[in-house]
Amino acid sequence: MRTLRVRSDRRLNPLAPLALAILVAVTATPLTAQQSMANGGAHPDEVTFSKDVAPILQANCQICHRPASVGPMSLLTYQETRRYASRARDLVSKRLMPPFHLDTGFGIQDIKDDWRLSEEEIETFVAWVDAGAPEGDPADLPPPIEWPNKQMWQLEDILGPPDHVIRSKPFDVPAEGGDTWWRPRVPTGLAEDRWVMAAETRPSFPAGRQIVHHAIPRLLRLNDEGEYRRIQSLSEYAMGKVGEIVPRDAGRLLKATDMIEWDAHYYPMGYDVTGDQVELGIWFHEEGYEPEFNQDLRLYPLRGDIALRPGGTAMTQGFHRWDHPVRLDSFQPHGHVHLHAMSVQVVYPDGDVELISMVTDFDARWHHSYIYEDDAAPLLPTGTVVVLTGWYDNTAENELTPDPEIWYARGSRTMDEMSHAWIAVTHLTEDGYRKLVEEREARLATDGEDDSSGNNGTDGR
Ligand code: HEC
Repeated sequence: MRTLRVRSDRRLNPLAPLALAILVAVTATPLTAQQSMANGGAHPDEVTFSKDVAPILQANCQICHRPASVGPMSLLTYQETRRYASRARDLVSKRLMPPFHLDTGFGIQDIKDDWRLSEEEIETFVAWVDAGAPEGDPADLPPPIEWPNKQMWQLEDILGPPDHVIRSKPFDVPAEGGDTWWRPRVPTGLAEDRWVMAAETRPSFPAGRQIVHHAIPRLLRLNDEGEYRRIQSLSEYAMGKVGEIVPRDAGRLLKATDMIEWDAHYYPMGYDVTGDQVELGIWFHEEGYEPEFNQDLRLYPLRGDIALRPGGTAMTQGFHRWDHPVRLDSFQPHGHVHLHAMSVQVVYPDGDVELISMVTDFDARWHHSYIYEDDAAPLLPTGTVVVLTGWYDNTAENELTPDPEIWYARGSRTMDEMSHAWIAVTHLTEDGYRKLVEEREARLATDGEDDSSGNNGTDGR
């Protein structure tokens, strides 16, 4: 029995409720344009910054492109945006900004916190730049968003501030030198065991955003011999990462006696940074919560040689199988500057193959964890094999390779290559699997009826 093939084309969730309100406003603009055309205005159908582009920036770009955020420049005003118009046209039309590299149109498209632009929004943006990036009437501007003037957790929008924060020990990063790793162990600081509902790792601000390549809080647990052993990771930070949200029916246990072993990869950026700390924010399920299933986030390796000759390409694969049914809750490819694409496929016990997710324009500066919507997360019967495939590119076409004239191989420095995926897996029992399949089928059957009422057709996502 399989339900994986049950997929819907329903629209994706925008970044936050706020964004939703703005999106509704955006999708309503073509109507306004038509109306003003009927009124015989000067350039009635002209796409302008004030009327059409500012709402798109507010909903999809300013969270990063404003002072004190991760983007290299601010896109709050017309003047600021105009300077970057043609570069933005290029990146927006290729779907490289906002950064979200999951292929559109292949595999599961129902992703939590999906901030991709709709086709309509992309067309509007492109039409605006092609028309010479006109400002339009400032009276048409939407009211500015009051962005908080401090570093926020990315999940804060949805979940509020974290219940608990665990910090790495301070580390001094010199101005010059090569990659360095910082692996201090710290206690959880908890008085009692708790079930984790969400976790987000973040670097310090502002320096950490430049010098931290990635940071992983590994979870260590005492075994019967009284030794701490790694059991899983709680979350991984790499730029662009939102964090991990665990589905309602699953939890990740954090015991008061556990330790966090940080694995922070730093690289010097030309200035001294003293006492840098990486932070793990945790949101808990309510006290007394008992999960039906356990979920963990683990690294799944892809094997094989990555010997990239000058101008060469390579491919690696990883095969994984469990002795019980599972649900795949998220997928995050990991590689460095040569990883160009990674896919997840599943081979069912009957031999059928299905593509789950594909990331073609992987960019090592952006490590996104694609978290499947609850009713889209693949439910895999016992015996299903997960196949990960990674493709590497050391040709001159790859703008990110430091030098396509030399060899590259596996390794952990920024310029070496890596090959793995992070996957959050909920471990099911046979009964639990059957129950989830039935519940999902029932829900999707009723949803299907609701959808036919037609209130979803407002955008092309
Ligand atoms: C999640 C954060 C984030 C979001 C959302 C985002 N950006 Fe960016 N953007 C960045 C970062 C960080 C960079 C610099 C690194 C890079 O290019 O990947 C960047 C780079 C850019 C650049 C290139 C700047 C240059 O100097 O070449 C442009 C243009 C741009 N973004 C436009 C946009 C637009 C337009 C949107 C919305 C439609 C958007 N971005 C949404 C974070 C973001």
